Amino acid sequence: MLHRPRRNRKSAVIRDMIQEHHLTPANLIFPLFVIEGQNQKTEVSSMPGIYRHSIDNLLREVESCMKLGLYAFDLFPNIEDSFKDKYATVSYKKDNLYLRAIEEVKKNFPEACVVTDVAMDPYSSDGHDGIVENGIILNDETLDILGKMALAHAEAGADIIAPSDMMDGRIGYIRRVLDESGFSHVSLMSYTAKYASAFYGPFRDALNSAPKAGDKKTYQMNPANSREALIEAQLDAEEGADFLMVKPGLPYLDIIKLLHDNFDLPIAAYNVSGEYAMLKAATRNGWLDEERAIMETLMSFRRAGATSILTYHAKEVLEKKWLV
Ligand code: PBG
Repeated sequence: MLHRPRRNRKSAVIRDMIQEHHLTPANLIFPLFVIEGQNQKTEVSSMPGIYRHSIDNLLREVESCMKLGLYAFDLFPNIEDSFKDKYATVSYKKDNLYLRAIEEVKKNFPEACVVTDVAMDPYSSDGHDGIVENGIILNDETLDILGKMALAHAEAGADIIAPSDMMDGRIGYIRRVLDESGFSHVSLMSYTAKYASAFYGPFRDALNSAPKAGDKKTYQMNPANSREALIEAQLDAEEGADFLMVKPGLPYLDIIKLLHDNFDLPIAAYNVSGEYAMLKAATRNGWLDEERAIMETLMSFRRAGATSILTYHAKEVLEKKWLV
């Protein structure tokens, strides 16, 4: 035999020497849930180890992450039902929970990178990402609200704004709103290929944001499609996106690779709540080795071509020193 691939696997030094992909703390973005109150920290029942934090507690959490070398955070608000309405008006109201959280994090930790989520669902009495009229999601009317939300986030100090709503034309619309108001330096991380997935369940529990009626299939993508992701990516690139995101992550590694191979923009992967819940359920039952299963999962996103990984495992992998 002339070719013996096992020669390159014979020792740890050689295996490390030829390792193609690496994962560093700089690749990780940690999603954090925010709630009203003082000194609050409530665990999400379907996401063991993940909490909704009141702002004071959020600041402590951010500080402890930064000590571990984790500097990028994606914030999501849990809004009381009484503040929700058809047009998500609280989403851009001055001093709302979310805007205060962004401001406080940036004021206390200017070096932290704050990613913010633009979509109506946490604030919508219909639990949808757009305006609902007779069961129909109104695309163009929703853009106006998304623009107002994005502007409010930029004013509060967001570094990167991530529209997760999947309305057509929202990247270009938000880019224009930001540029016209002096926020041309604020980045856009587009949820480019966001699928209508079962894996968002625990997230909707965390925020109490599930749709009241219907599903999200008229705006989120059909899990059976891949080429459609190229159409979305082409539009986002033309409209000025700085990052293209694929969501969920693990069941869509092929889409991450597809966008990586066809576009020069950085690719982000969202390792979503249901993926986290799945691994925790198995590892807590002793069915999988926790460290190996989590690290293999995170490495798969790097191998597929993502530079940035939004993951609920971000803090634990650093805390447990699985990643140094
Ligand atoms: C809402 C939004 C969702 C997630 C991020 N932003 C859920 C949804 O579309 O219903 C899911 C994240 C996760 O599951 O971890 N615009």
